Amino acid sequence: MKVLVGVTGCIAAYKACEIVRALQKAGAEVEVVMTKAATSFVGPQTFAALTGHPVGLSLFDDTTDPIPHIRLAEGCDAFLIAPCTANVAAKLAMGIADDLLTSTALACTAPLMIAPAMNVHMYENAATQANLATLRARGVHVLDPAYGRLACGDVGAGKLPEPADIARAVLDLLHSADAGALAGRRVLITSGPTVEPIDPVRFVSNRSSGKMGSALAEAALAAGAQVTVVSGPVSVCYPDAASVIFVDTACQMLDAAQRCAPDADIIICAAAVADHRPANPAAHKLKKDDDDAALASIAMVGNPDILRSIAEGKRADQVVVGFAAETDEVLANAQAKLHRKGADMIVANEVGAELGFGTDDDKAAFIMRESVEELPLMAKRQLAERIIERTCNLLSEIS
Ligand code: CTP
Repeated sequence: MKVLVGVTGCIAAYKACEIVRALQKAGAEVEVVMTKAATSFVGPQTFAALTGHPVGLSLFDDTTDPIPHIRLAEGCDAFLIAPCTANVAAKLAMGIADDLLTSTALACTAPLMIAPAMNVHMYENAATQANLATLRARGVHVLDPAYGRLACGDVGAGKLPEPADIARAVLDLLHSADAGALAGRRVLITSGPTVEPIDPVRFVSNRSSGKMGSALAEAALAAGAQVTVVSGPVSVCYPDAASVIFVDTACQMLDAAQRCAPDADIIICAAAVADHRPANPAAHKLKKDDDDAALASIAMVGNPDILRSIAEGKRADQVVVGFAAETDEVLANAQAKLHRKGADMIVANEVGAELGFGTDDDKAAFIMRESVEELPLMAKRQLAERIIERTCNLLSEIS
C-alpha cells in the first residue's frame, strides 16, 4: 500500500516526519509532496531521506517528469495532507490547483484525508468551518484537530493530533476499503465515562479515557464493519470513519444505545457508566456558604444498567459483549457478571493503580458461558483486535 503525504506550511510540519515513520512501520510505502510554505518549516531533504523518494515540490521543476501531479495522484492508495493549513483547506474546497500539492489533490481519486492544524480562531472562523464542511460533504475525511495550547500561545482546538493517531486513521481508511471478516456488519460500541450533574458546574464521573472504545472502533473498522460509537466526554480521537454520538449522562447513553442497537450485529459495552447519579441536580450553582448542607450530603439514585437492558432486548442473531473492571477476584466476579447481565461474553480486566483506566496496556480474559480464555498483558489496540476476532467467531456460530 502506498500513501502520499502532503505537508503544508504550519509549525506542526515537523510532526509529519513522525507520521511518515509510523506509516512506514505499519508497512506502507510513503511519498511526500510539500507546499513552498512547508519548506520554511522542514527541509525536503528530511522527507527524501525518510522515504527514499524525491520530494514533490513543483509542477515544473522536474524535467524527467512533465506531469508529476498525475503520477503522484495515480500512484497512491490514499492521500493524507497533514498538517493542512486553513489556506490549503480553502483551496481544496474551491478546487484551486495552483501548486503541485493542490493539483495532485484535485487529480487524485484515492481517498483523501486531511488533518487541519492552525490557530483556534482561524479554525473556528466561519470561512474555515464552511470549507471543511464542503470537503466533508464531498467525502474527504477531515480529522478533528486536538485541543490544547497552540504554538501562538492561544488555547483551543487547532493542534495537530498525535502522529500515531493520524497514521492509524489512514491505515483504518485503507483497511476499511478491503473486505474484512465484518464486511457488511454493524458494530455498536459504548465508550468513555458518563458524567452525572450535581449542579450546572459540578458532576460525578470516573477516570475512563475512552481509549478502549476507540481501539475497538479501529479494530472493527479494520475488519470491514460499519461502526457507531456512543461516547461520554473523552479527549481521545475516535476514528474518522466511525460515526460518533456524544452524550453526557447514563440515561442519555442508554437512550442513544437503545436507538442504535436494533441495527447492530455486535454490541460492545465498553463504557464506564456511573452506577449512581445525584437524585436532584440543582438548577443553579451550589454556593459555598448558602448551600453547604446540600453539598455535604448529595442523595444518589441508581442509574440504568445499559449492558443489561441491551442484553435483555437482544435478538438471537446479535452478539452482546460487556467488560468487567475488577480489582480483585477478577475471573469469579466477571463470571457472575456474565450471568447477571445476560451478555454473550465478558472481557474481564484487572484495574488498579497501574492497570486499566487511561493506560495503553491491558491484561484481560474472555469469559464465555462455556469457557474462559486468559490473555497476556498487551496493548489496548492489540486486545481490541482479539476482542473483535473472538466476537466475529461468536457471530459466525449463531448466523
Ligand atoms: N455497564 C453498563 N451500565 C451500567 C454499568 C455498567 O452498561 N450502569 C456495563 C459496562 O459498560 C461494562 C459492564 O456493564 O460492560 C460492567 O461494568 P462494571 O463497571 O465492571 O460493573 P458494574 O455493573 O458497575 O458492577 P460492579 O459495581 O459490581 O463492579
